[in-house]
Amino acid sequence: MAVSRAHLAVSQEHEVVDLDAVRRAHAPRVPRYDPTTSLEKIARSQLPPTAVLKLDWNEGTIAPPASVSAAMVAHIQSADGAYLKWYPNLAGGDALRAELAAYCRVGQDNVLVTNGSDDALILLCQAFLGHGTSALAPTPTYEHFCVNALVTGANLIRLDLADPFVADSDFVASGIARHRPSMAYLVSPNNPTGIQWSTEDVRDLADRFPDVMFVVDEAYHEFGAIDPSTGRPMTCAELAVSTRNVVVTRTFSKAFCLASVRCGYVVAHPATLEQLRSFYNPKSVNQLAQVAALAALHEFDGHYRPYIELTHESRERFVLDLEARGISVHSGGAGNFVCVWVPDGRTAELCRRLEDHAIYVRDINARFPGFVRITIGLEMGRVADAIDEALHAMGVLDPI
Ligand SMILES: Cc1ncc(COP(=O)(O)O)c(C=O)c1O
Repeated sequence: MAVSRAHLAVSQEHEVVDLDAVRRAHAPRVPRYDPTTSLEKIARSQLPPTAVLKLDWNEGTIAPPASVSAAMVAHIQSADGAYLKWYPNLAGGDALRAELAAYCRVGQDNVLVTNGSDDALILLCQAFLGHGTSALAPTPTYEHFCVNALVTGANLIRLDLADPFVADSDFVASGIARHRPSMAYLVSPNNPTGIQWSTEDVRDLADRFPDVMFVVDEAYHEFGAIDPSTGRPMTCAELAVSTRNVVVTRTFSKAFCLASVRCGYVVAHPATLEQLRSFYNPKSVNQLAQVAALAALHEFDGHYRPYIELTHESRERFVLDLEARGISVHSGGAGNFVCVWVPDGRTAELCRRLEDHAIYVRDINARFPGFVRITIGLEMGRVADAIDEALHAMGVLDPI
């Protein structure tokens, strides 16, 4: 039946529900995760994407390989678009799950594909948190997790690390012993500090606190330090397979340069994944995301590995460059980002000044006072020059 104007008029007469008010009533303690977006500013500037350094969301900084976009276009065009009318392969589809299992060196029944890793974190919070429970997070951390935890009605215990750039697992252990949370959230490499929680430390914590679910967020896994025993980036994926109270979340949004398609996954024991399935929408991973993720995995050695290596080198060079200019820069040693300290808390001003150079960085003063976070791309000399110029103009950098 077609929708007539009369229908619309009737529906417009119905009471309008203020959804924000409903949300506020149900979750009065939950702060909004309200990240600013630079995309509108970039669109207004009319600069081509290649002229802009978008370094505010820790996305990948190069385009995915042509084969990835070609696979997406081929999917859209195949059978004159006829596949678009059907729901996607459920649960990410067998092909992607199999490829991911091989990539992570785990079994296919250890992988659950999700709509970005945010979706994975939401599922974990829904499954393991709720009223009367609590989640503990060493801070500073990825704030969106905190929102997801609070929305369930759980308490959030922020454990401020004495030195935010040192992964002190003894301190975390004493925090867990004191607060007895249901969940501990460890980001590794951590956003925004770049510290990593070693597999051994996570194993010890999980053994010591078997009632705590350890969620290890490896969104930046590919940008992590190399584990000398495997020659691959450090990970808790294999630990998660063998240990019921450890789960790992990962994403295609960072090293795979596919943030726009929304694809992530969980690696865990099959029994843990079964618990998550009660909350899981098997249609949630759209078909283009599946096609893109699968094509990207095929390009890991040819396209992504060299990009990851260049990013590591670029981060190290950038840190040395800023230090040589007398600028206070901090990195825990992993991740595709660093933190720059701005004297007098004038982070917003630095960000604004960098925008004049078409450089977008993230003001994280609210969660990490005094700092801006900068994603590492491959043109960081230009960024160092612009920061230098801005800090001098602000009068907060002594001439060397
Ligand atoms: C630590 C961490 N986890 C998860 C996410 C969300 O990633 P996704 O795009 O997979 O939802 C981010 C995004 O910035 C992040 O920094």
